[in-house]
Amino acid sequence: MQKGFAIVALASIAGTALAEGSVILPEEGSISRSEGQAAFERIYEVVTHPRCANCHVGDDNIPMWSGPSYGAPQPHGMNINAGESRIGAEFLPCQTCHVVSDDFNTAPHAAPRFGIAWQLAPVEFEWFGKSRAEICAQLKDPERNGGRDWRGMVEHLEHDASLNGPVAWGWSPGAGREPAPYSLDGHINDMALWGAAGQPCPSGE
Ligand code: HEC
Ligand code: HEC
Repeated sequence: MQKGFAIVALASIAGTALAEGSVILPEEGSISRSEGQAAFERIYEVVTHPRCANCHVGDDNIPMWSGPSYGAPQPHGMNINAGESRIGAEFLPCQTCHVVSDDFNTAPHAAPRFGIAWQLAPVEFEWFGKSRAEICAQLKDPERNGGRDWRGMVEHLEHDASLNGPVAWGWSPGAGREPAPYSLDGHINDMALWGAAGQPCPSGE
């Protein structure tokens, strides 16, 4: 039952829900600063949620296990270290356990999986334990966000979701894991609102 539900949800995420205009790009400047700041608050809640932040970690290259389903936040069990490759090439590759599959693994405590290669996010995209101001500055800095303006960020999220990558998985993680807050298309629309408002940060910079 649970598995069937996950597949249905996945088909709608990867198929029509995003492809057919569920994300609206507002005109630059058409969104007020306060609406933009409110959108950023929601973005912050998403990116610091365990389903996102557990992979967006720092230069110790150690993925995290955090969120209520894991108990107290802790480094990934089994001494996993992703190395500078961020895919575990120097030690045990992530894909030994986290195989590539469009059928997200919904069995409790099994290694989660999704449609692209499982790996840590690049170290400049570190979110785990970071403040609002730090994450806001990082998300709008092309030197540290993969060279993307806000439209590029929206496209990245849509593209990742269309491949059943981490962005799609974060809202359908199964296995007793808490999904990221709000919704996939809500998050992408928030990225667009924040962008069209000029990417305001909470402290006013
Ligand atoms: C399994 C690990 C993993 C998880 C979980 C994960 N990501 Fe990522 N993320 C990555 C990798 C790898 C990249 C680099 C891909 C690229 O830039 O093309 C990335 C890049 C990104 C970027 C691009 C640029 C930037 O400034 O960080 C965004 C935005 C992003 N992820 C959002 C999310 C969101 C939202 C979630 C949760 C719903 C999430 N990620 C969960 C691995 C992960
Ligand atoms: C030996 C098998 C194994 C290897 C290798 C492995 N993992 Fe995992 N990983 C797991 C299992 C099993 C879980 C889920 C544990 C649970 O739910 O109790 C997990 C969970 C995770 C999570 C938490 C996902 C969530 O629920 O938020 C992240 C992040 C993660 N792994 C990243 C990595 C990265 C990055 C690598 C490679 C450097 C890696 N793992 C290598 C077995 C493995």
